[in-house]
Amino acid sequence: TDPAKIKLGNGQDVKGTRVRVFGRVHRERRQKTNMFITLKDGYGFMQVILTGKLAATYDALTLTRETSMEILGELREVPQGAHAPNGRELHADYYRIHPGWHAAGGDDAITNRVSKDTEHATLLDLRHLTLRGETASKVMIVRDAVEYAFNVVYRELRLRKVSPPALVQTMVEGGATLFGLPYYNEEAFLTQSSQLYLETCLASMGDVYCIEKSFRAEKSLTRRHLAEYTHIEAELDFIHFGDLLDHLELVMCRVLEVAMADPTIKQYIMELNPEFQMPERPFKRMRYSEAIDWLVEHGIPNEEGEPHKFGDDIAEAAERKMTDAINRPIFLTHFPVEIKAFYMLKDKDDPRVTHSVDCLMPGVGEIVGGSMRIDQYDELLVAFARQEIDPSSYYWYTDQRKYGSSPHGGYGLGLERFLAWLCKQHTVRDCCLYPRYFGRCKP
Ligand code: 4AD
Ligand code: MG
Repeated sequence: TDPAKIKLGNGQDVKGTRVRVFGRVHRERRQKTNMFITLKDGYGFMQVILTGKLAATYDALTLTRETSMEILGELREVPQGAHAPNGRELHADYYRIHPGWHAAGGDDAITNRVSKDTEHATLLDLRHLTLRGETASKVMIVRDAVEYAFNVVYRELRLRKVSPPALVQTMVEGGATLFGLPYYNEEAFLTQSSQLYLETCLASMGDVYCIEKSFRAEKSLTRRHLAEYTHIEAELDFIHFGDLLDHLELVMCRVLEVAMADPTIKQYIMELNPEFQMPERPFKRMRYSEAIDWLVEHGIPNEEGEPHKFGDDIAEAAERKMTDAINRPIFLTHFPVEIKAFYMLKDKDDPRVTHSVDCLMPGVGEIVGGSMRIDQYDELLVAFARQEIDPSSYYWYTDQRKYGSSPHGGYGLGLERFLAWLCKQHTVRDCCLYPRYFGRCKP
């Protein structure tokens, strides 16, 4: 009978037993008559030793990296002083390379062996292969764990998951970044945010969240903008602004705790980002007006090259400089009405500003945008008029203010930006499978 088939990672500590494994060749090296193979399968790595005749076959002598193998053998502890993943190695007594399993050899345009000066565009064209590299696969595995952790934490907090439509006929975050498409005989857009739909769910389901794609026709090439990204959004009913900030802090810290409770995930995060430290709660709170003062004091100019003044947009570069200097998570709050979306609630104590928040992280800047929402019908119509938006296509949104309105608020978190921070990646493009941005829609 065949021995048990096992995956290669942690937690399969069965030293002394005979096992069957499947994987691809990550590295191979010859030593006298023996051959050492590091096998990988997406769960981890395992050192395999071929000895004697097994190391002298045609297949062994011509073995190329990425070739898939089936190997049977005994798992043994590595000798003192030797190193192997998880402290064990597989002494093969049989292996097979099934028909078609050989990897095209000689060509190193694959995984982490692509040379340092390979063109960036070439690397992106080869994303289906570069994904196999150690860094890329770790980031993708952490991504899976983080996305799962959000689901766990939202359950803990009794939010319910919904799935709003991606094809819509209203904008949320300004018309400039809408992707339009023909929809039968009408026009439709790819959604920029599910927020407005989440708001409509509060009355029937209580607090809700979704993990959906959002689309932005961003025309600039920055390291934190994608055309298609994964948007984690939540909406909370009967809350005040302070509750929103507390919730956001709790969710982010719990997600990290839940994800890092898995030793493999913790290990990958620490390998990708050795300086990672669990953020301390409460996060630093800073008003928009204080940020303007900070930027002026530190001589960081606005987009026109002039000192920042109240009402200016804080551009990406300035925001990142400030965040990196402060070097801890920041809740930037109370943005002016003029530079924020139509739906944001004004602060009763200072009607120039909104009950809004951006969460800024070192190395990335904004990873979350949220606010309290205008809950009064008349006020919402004034806000539409101010931004010259025709409210008629929003009837389903404005109706919420006619049928039992409530103080509510929510936020959206960009998963790729969260990961760029957590895994210390230079760009969000490295935090998704196949990045989509201005000029790229393949593979
Ligand atoms: O700040 P934004 O535009 O806010 C909203 O869309 C709200 N309607 C969300 C809500 O309240 N439910 O986007 C929220 C977050 C940003 O902080 C950022 O992390 C991410 O979405 N994001 C992007 N990520 C990658 N590429 C882009 N082009 C992004 N645009 C926004
Ligand atoms: Mg924003």
